[in-house]
Amino acid sequence: MSITKICCIGAGYVGGPTMAVIAQKCPHIQVTVVDLNEERIAAWNDENVDNIPIYEPGLSDIVAEARGRNLFFSTNVEKAIDEAQIIFISVNTPTKTYGKGKGMAADLKYIELCARQIARIAKDNKIVVEKSTLPVRTAEAIKSILDNTGNGVQFQILSNPEFLAEGTAVTDLLNPDRILIGGDTSVEGQKAIQSLVDVYANWVPADKILTTNVWSSELSKLTANAFLAQRISSVNAMSELCEKTGADVNEVARAIGMDSRIGPKFLKASVGFGGSCFQKDILNLVYIAKSYGLNEVADYWEQVIIMNDHQKRRFSNKMVQTLYNTVADKKIAFLGWAFKKDTNDTRESAAIYIADDLINEQAQIAVYDPKVSSKKVLADLDYLETRTSEKNSANVTSFSSPYEACASAHAIAVLTEWDEFIAYDWQKIYDGMQKPAFVFDGRNILNRVALESIGFIYQGIGS
Ligand code: UDX
Ligand code: UDX
Repeated sequence: MSITKICCIGAGYVGGPTMAVIAQKCPHIQVTVVDLNEERIAAWNDENVDNIPIYEPGLSDIVAEARGRNLFFSTNVEKAIDEAQIIFISVNTPTKTYGKGKGMAADLKYIELCARQIARIAKDNKIVVEKSTLPVRTAEAIKSILDNTGNGVQFQILSNPEFLAEGTAVTDLLNPDRILIGGDTSVEGQKAIQSLVDVYANWVPADKILTTNVWSSELSKLTANAFLAQRISSVNAMSELCEKTGADVNEVARAIGMDSRIGPKFLKASVGFGGSCFQKDILNLVYIAKSYGLNEVADYWEQVIIMNDHQKRRFSNKMVQTLYNTVADKKIAFLGWAFKKDTNDTRESAAIYIADDLINEQAQIAVYDPKVSSKKVLADLDYLETRTSEKNSANVTSFSSPYEACASAHAIAVLTEWDEFIAYDWQKIYDGMQKPAFVFDGRNILNRVALESIGFIYQGIGS
């Protein structure tokens, strides 16, 4: 089937950029991104493309080029479903906060709602594509809902996990390492796979498009994220050993990364990984393993999360210890709140947990992040439900200038690796701070020697 109309449910960090790139690369296909959230759709349609709701380098240019031509953002979910031949589901699948699997399993209520809505509206055959990361065998559930509540039309379910990383979404989408498409082994299933392959073939070389069965595709996504997160927890485990023994984890990472079997990427020791995917997907994997009675498999992967939680806690403990065992009423400046650089996304950011620990110690936190609003900072803390939001606002203030955030602070914690932090006038920052002035570099991005020569007491991760 030659595809001319695509719809995507969910205009988030995955759905928005992915559809923008498909629209740019396939001007003959009409791409409509729908979302229940009216405010979010209005922002995607903002005349000034700099106001789109998601910050990703290069994204606003692509939206400017394709929007109104063959890229549309809308809240009219029904119309978009009705018209499309391919429907991507890219809604969020947070970890369950209630009931069976609480704290571990993925909450599939939004996915199910989407499936029921598609079933109700579709009057002709559709290809439904899972873009959201989902537990293995979700496609089966979607299929059952579609077939049993639909209008007798045929549905093909494909799994097409997204591997883009935030902050580099546009380049990842333009030059993917691979595109993975899982589908049914039947003739109809293979035809559906081919339709989606043809869409990607507009810009992705054929040898990078892999096709598998649905289960392999779903599990590959969880496995990829588990392996990536595992590398970070592995290097973070070594960082603690380095701190005790006098080795430098940056040197160790460099030395092992030159082994071509290991490779240099994802070996950066840090205050801990964050983001919407790693923790959620590993918890999901652990839950699936447990539900099959595979307890050793579950425990093995759960250790990646345990190490990550330990790394965050260790960082805040070390700050308190170094600051003479008390941070009560001390101003602590946070450089960075996003979970990584070049994004305004803060989901599961280490900064949230470090702030939470330090507020428990009655510190005053001053936050500067180039892309995160003060409203978001407070909402992230309120979401933890550790204390009232009045108490959070009494202890946390955001600043629009890093120099103001650091003025009269006792210590600075670098929690996101934003490039601009490296270029600051560190002498000026030092002059404005309480003495002794401490820098806790949770990302190992600053120049230790230069900071120490100014007078800072510097502590990185793993050295
Ligand atoms: C999400 C998941 O986090 C990720 O695991 C998955 O791989 C892709 O989807 P993301 O795009 O980052 O990633 O989520 P988010 O930014 O929260 O966007 C989801 C959007 O779906 C939201 O804008 C939400 O309003 C919308 N939505 C949710 C609907 O339109 N309908 C629903 O029923 C539920
Ligand atoms: C991840 C996967 O990389 C991507 O393929 C998948 O589709 C979604 O999940 P993302 O969460 O956007 O992407 O960012 P990623 O670059 O993987 O970083 C995740 C976290 O790990 C960040 O907090 C980052 O700072 C941290 N990290 C990354 C490290 O601490 N050290 C590293 O060496 C690399």
